[in-house]
Amino acid sequence: MIKKCLFPVAGYGTRFLPATKSMPKEMLPIVNKPLVQYGVEEAIAAGMTTCAMVTGRGKRAIADHFDISFELEHQISGTGKEVYLESIREVLDRGVFTMVRQREMKGLGHAILTGEVLIGHEPFGVVLSDDLCLNEGPGVLSQMAELYRQFRCSIVAIQEVPMEDVHKYGVIAGESLKDGIYRVDEMVEKPDASVAPSNLAIIGRYILTPDIFDILRETPPGANGEVQLTDALQTQARQGCVMAYRFKGRRFDCGSVPGFVEATNFVYENHYSRS
Ligand code: UTP
Repeated sequence: MIKKCLFPVAGYGTRFLPATKSMPKEMLPIVNKPLVQYGVEEAIAAGMTTCAMVTGRGKRAIADHFDISFELEHQISGTGKEVYLESIREVLDRGVFTMVRQREMKGLGHAILTGEVLIGHEPFGVVLSDDLCLNEGPGVLSQMAELYRQFRCSIVAIQEVPMEDVHKYGVIAGESLKDGIYRVDEMVEKPDASVAPSNLAIIGRYILTPDIFDILRETPPGANGEVQLTDALQTQARQGCVMAYRFKGRRFDCGSVPGFVEATNFVYENHYSRS
C-alpha cells in the first residue's frame, strides 16, 4: 500500500571524516555492499519500490550505483564474475529511482521537505541509511508498513538505549498500547539524561503521512539551526497521530566508527557468503 520510500542522503557525514570527504557516507560498504543498498533492499522488500533520494553535492556515486554500468556489464557478461552483480541487478530490476538535490544542508526536516516533489500526497517510508537494520524475519520497514495498515498514522521506529546515550537521539514518551507499540505524547530531540522522558530512542526508520510536509514548511529551525523532523513529528503527536514501534531485529549506528565496525563483523559472520 505504501509505494514510496525517501532516502535523505545529503548529509556531510562528519563523524566519518576523512573517509567521507569526497565519498558519500551512504556508499561506505558493510563487507561488500554499500550502506544505502541495504536500505533500498529493505524498502523494496516492504513493497516500497519507488526509492526517492534526496542527494546533494558530492553524492553522484549514489545515483551511479542505482544505474547500470554499461562497460562493466559488457566486460563481465558471460563470465563467472557476473555473480557479483546479482544483488544490485535485482535491485535495479525491481526498483525505480528518483532524485532531487538538497542545495543547502539545513537538517533532516529540510531534507524531507525537499523530497516532497518526489513523494506527492501519499504516505511514505523514510530510511536513514547509516542506521543498518537487520532481522531474520521481515525487515523493519515491512513490520512498520504492516502497522500502518492498522493505525494509518505516522510511525517512528524506536529502541531502548542506555540512559547515558539518550542525548544522541530523539526520545519519546507515550502510552503503551500493546507490547512494543506506543501512542506518542511527546518527543524531545537529543535531551539531557536528567530531563529525558524515557530511554526509548527514535532510530532511522519512519512512516510519515503527507501532512508532515505542511507542518515542516511551518517548522522553524531548532537545535543546531537545522529544521528538525522531531519538531514536526511533535506537532503530529499533539494531534494523537504518531505511533512508536519497538521493532524486531538489530540496528547498527553505522554513522559512527564503533557501530560501523560492529555491523561489519556481524554481517561478515552471519550474512556474508564466502563461497
Ligand atoms: P546525520 O545527523 O546523521 O548527519 O543525518 P550527517 O551529516 O549525515 O552525519 P554527521 O552527524 O555529520 O556525521 C541524518 C540523516 O539525514 C541526512 C543524512 O544524510 C543522514 O542520512 N541529512 C541530514 C540530509 O539529507 N540533509 C541534511 O541537511 C542533514
